[in-house]
Amino acid sequence: MKEKDIATFNENFFDLMEKDYGLLTAGTIDNFNAMTISWGAIGTLWRRNTFTVYVRPSRFTYHFLTKQDYFTISYFPKSFHDKLTYLGTKSGRDEDKIKKCNLTPIAVKNNAVTYEEARLTFVCRKLYEADFLPDSIPETVKNRFYLQKDYHRLFIGEIVQVLSSED
Ligand SMILES: Cc1cc2nc3c(=O)[nH]c(=O)nc-3n(C[C@H](O)[C@H](O)[C@H](O)COP(=O)(O)O)c2cc1C
Repeated sequence: MKEKDIATFNENFFDLMEKDYGLLTAGTIDNFNAMTISWGAIGTLWRRNTFTVYVRPSRFTYHFLTKQDYFTISYFPKSFHDKLTYLGTKSGRDEDKIKKCNLTPIAVKNNAVTYEEARLTFVCRKLYEADFLPDSIPETVKNRFYLQKDYHRLFIGEIVQVLSSED
């Protein structure tokens, strides 16, 4: 994977998240976990380029995110879609799902993790994290997404590196 200038990123972010899905990985190459995400935001904050992810406390990955400074979001060729669905329905608590999906972890900046098979990776340093305030969420959203009161925590990362396998 080659380092890219973030200014060259020109993909449709909605397609990337909602159709391709992303793989959020937290922890270091020695001890990490990953889960599929389809909600997220690329933006700017405090004069930095940022990537925000939303993770429920019930996810095994959540605990890696709260404890570690770095996380990555990786995107794969379309042929990996079934694997991403698998990684988003099984928990790393119960099995080595990365191995099961035949993904090859590789260490990047600060020992954060991406995969040989990924075509695009955002490497992020955690800047901020906060829980959603239930009272501030519209009732319709609560009724649809939070019947278990499993409110997301948002994690904002500064994008410190963009890696791509494509020219
Ligand atoms: C397409 C898709 C998108 C998902 N997006 C999110 C998300 O944005 N946030 C979240 O907390 N869970 C999301 N999930 C659910 C987690 O990926 C799933 O619970 C996963 O099994 C957690 O794995 P873990 O326990 O190993 O962390 C998504 C699942 C799928 C299939």
